[in-house]
Amino acid sequence: MTSAPQPVTVLGLGNMGSALAAALLDRGHPVTVWNRSPNKAVPLTDRGARLAATPADAIAASPLVIPCVIDYNALYALLDGATTSLIGRTVVNLTSGSPEQAHEALAWFGSHGADYLDGAIMTTPPGVGNSEVMFLYSGPREVFDAHRATLAALGDPLHLDADPGLASLYDAALLGLMWATMTGWLHGTALVGAEKVTATAFTPVAIR
Ligand SMILES: NC(=O)c1ccc[n+]([C@@H]2O[C@H](COP(=O)([O-])OP(=O)(O)OC[C@H]3O[C@@H](n4cnc5c(N)ncnc54)[C@H](OP(=O)(O)O)[C@@H]3O)[C@@H](O)[C@H]2O)c1
Repeated sequence: MTSAPQPVTVLGLGNMGSALAAALLDRGHPVTVWNRSPNKAVPLTDRGARLAATPADAIAASPLVIPCVIDYNALYALLDGATTSLIGRTVVNLTSGSPEQAHEALAWFGSHGADYLDGAIMTTPPGVGNSEVMFLYSGPREVFDAHRATLAALGDPLHLDADPGLASLYDAALLGLMWATMTGWLHGTALVGAEKVTATAFTPVAIR
C-alpha cells in the first residue's frame, strides 16, 4: 500500500518556485501556491494548483511548506504577519543563502513552532523533477526522513548532516567546482586555439 501524496505549499513562483510546484503537481500532490505577483500562478492553477490569497493562508493549507524566493530578506518579508500559521508545519527552505542564514532560520522557524530543513538545488528549473539531479538537504535527520518521499518529486534528495548550514556550504563549493570547470574549458580552448585547433576538435578530448 502507498499513502496518498501529501499536500504541499510552495511560496514563491519565480523560475525555480514554479518548476518546484509543477513537479509536485506531476506527482499528484495537492499543491497550494502563493506569490507576491499572483499572475505567475496562472500556469499552475490551470493545472489544478490552488492560489492562496495570503502567505498565512498558503502555509495553513499544507503540513509541508517549501519557500523558494530570491533571498532570505524576501523570505522574512513575506512571512511578516504570517508567523502564527507556522505552528506545527515543516518548512523546507530552497531559497539560496549562507550557512549562517541557515542556522538563524532553523532557530527562527523553531521559535515559531515549525520544523526546518535547509536545501540547495543542484539544477536549473528545466531539471527539476528529474530523479538524476541532486537536491541537498541539511537539518534534523528525522524531519528529512518524514518528508523524503515527497521531496523525491523534485529530484534525488540527499541528506548531508544535522548541521543546517551544510546544504548551502556544499552549494557554494559545488558552484565553485562548476565555474572552475567551465572557465578551465574556456582557457583550454583558448590555448589550443592559439595553435589553430578548433573548440569542436578539442572538446571531445576534454570531456574524456
Ligand atoms: N533559477 C535557477 O537556476 C536556480 C538554481 C538553484 C537555486 N536557485 C535559487 O532559487 C531561488 C529563486 O530563484 P528564481 O530563479 O526562482 O528567481 P526569480 O525567477 O527571480 O524569482 C524570484 C522570486 O522571489 C520573489 N521575491 C523577490 N523579492 C520578494 C519580496 N520582497 N517579497 C516576496 N517575494 C519576493 C519573486 O516574487 P515576484 O514574482 O513577485 O517578483 C519571485 O517569486 C533563489 O534563491 C535562487 O538562488 C535558482
